Amino acid sequence: MSAYAVLRSELVQQPSLWLVTGAAGFIGSSLVETLLQLGQRVVGLDNFATGHRANLEDVRQRAGERAWRRFRFMEADICDLAACREAVHGAHYVLHQAALGSVPRSIEEPIQTNRANIDGFLNLLVATRDARARRFVYAASSSTYGDHPALPKVEHEIGSPLSPYAVTKYVNELYASVFNSTYGMDCIGLRYFNVFGPRQDPQGAYAAVIPRWFEALCRNARCRINGDGETSRDFCYIDNAVQANLLAATTERPGAGGEVYNVAVGGRTTLNQLYREIRRLVAAQHPDAAAMEPLYGDFRAGDVRHSQADISKAGRLLGYAPTHDVAQGLALTGEWFMRRRAQS
Ligand SMILES: NC(=O)c1ccc[n+]([C@@H]2O[C@H](COP(=O)([O-])OP(=O)(O)OC[C@H]3O[C@@H](n4cnc5c(N)ncnc54)[C@H](O)[C@@H]3O)[C@@H](O)[C@H]2O)c1
Repeated sequence: MSAYAVLRSELVQQPSLWLVTGAAGFIGSSLVETLLQLGQRVVGLDNFATGHRANLEDVRQRAGERAWRRFRFMEADICDLAACREAVHGAHYVLHQAALGSVPRSIEEPIQTNRANIDGFLNLLVATRDARARRFVYAASSSTYGDHPALPKVEHEIGSPLSPYAVTKYVNELYASVFNSTYGMDCIGLRYFNVFGPRQDPQGAYAAVIPRWFEALCRNARCRINGDGETSRDFCYIDNAVQANLLAATTERPGAGGEVYNVAVGGRTTLNQLYREIRRLVAAQHPDAAAMEPLYGDFRAGDVRHSQADISKAGRLLGYAPTHDVAQGLALTGEWFMRRRAQS
């Protein structure tokens, strides 16, 4: 049995109280859904800066009314320390996802990004320290590798940040490490690599590429590729990221606490390959999509050319083993987007 399968059955036997920040967002809502399905009690906090009430409604429907009664939602800003203290009160584990994502947004709005991603992060660290939760797991980012050329990326080799967003995520790691050494607080950072799946927002200037392309191709609109399409990423299906969070929160393996881990699949897909696969999936239901060619534009400022993770550290110390590769994840994501479109 995998470490994750063992953990899931242990959690069902012994439910805990979890705080998930960013609960109305893509990754946060997926964490809430899984935790409720495993019989846990969950407090969710979000200010709807980029998250949506519809995500919570979707979780409610998928988890069921009985499970939903174990969920309490707080509409609040992590920049409000008193709200953070209230949210974390009594929690055994904290999964901190709330932040302003997107490299381009951070280039346009560095002050706002800094406020949520650093001031808010620090509030939550202090609140968690004082509430004495067992562990603080937070969303770090592969952007921390910055301009370091090595591939695959290993946790201890990072370069200089290439965007304000990357600065904020690196500062999170520095704070977490100092809270570990200064206050003995157990923090684990998860460096996500391009997570995708149901409920990821396809709308807006800062939308991620996978939901945006599914949505565009379903509408028969052309997709835009920044650069020549040979930029590559280690795309990671959401279930893998959820698994990493639950394992990180609960691991008791010696040496696992206080660390940062890559969360990905360990593969590399170019944007051109990604586009062709998404087009194939959409064309199965919308035949017109089969002939759609992408539009190529300029490279985007702050983007790294290639990204691929070494996931052996998470495997060794957390027992992390991805359950979905990119193709499986894309098929499930496509099903979800196309079903949702058909219902609306
Ligand atoms: N999706 C990815 O590929 C990826 C990659 C690397 C890191 N991350 C990190 O993972 C986390 C979750 O990302 P996501 O993709 O789910 O994004 P998302 O935008 O869907 O979710 C973020 C959530 O945080 C909430 N939020 C933002 N500022 C807040 C504030 N001040 N107070 C309270 N809530 C606030 C938003 O309303 C939103 O619901 C973020 O920290 C992000 O930086 C994501």
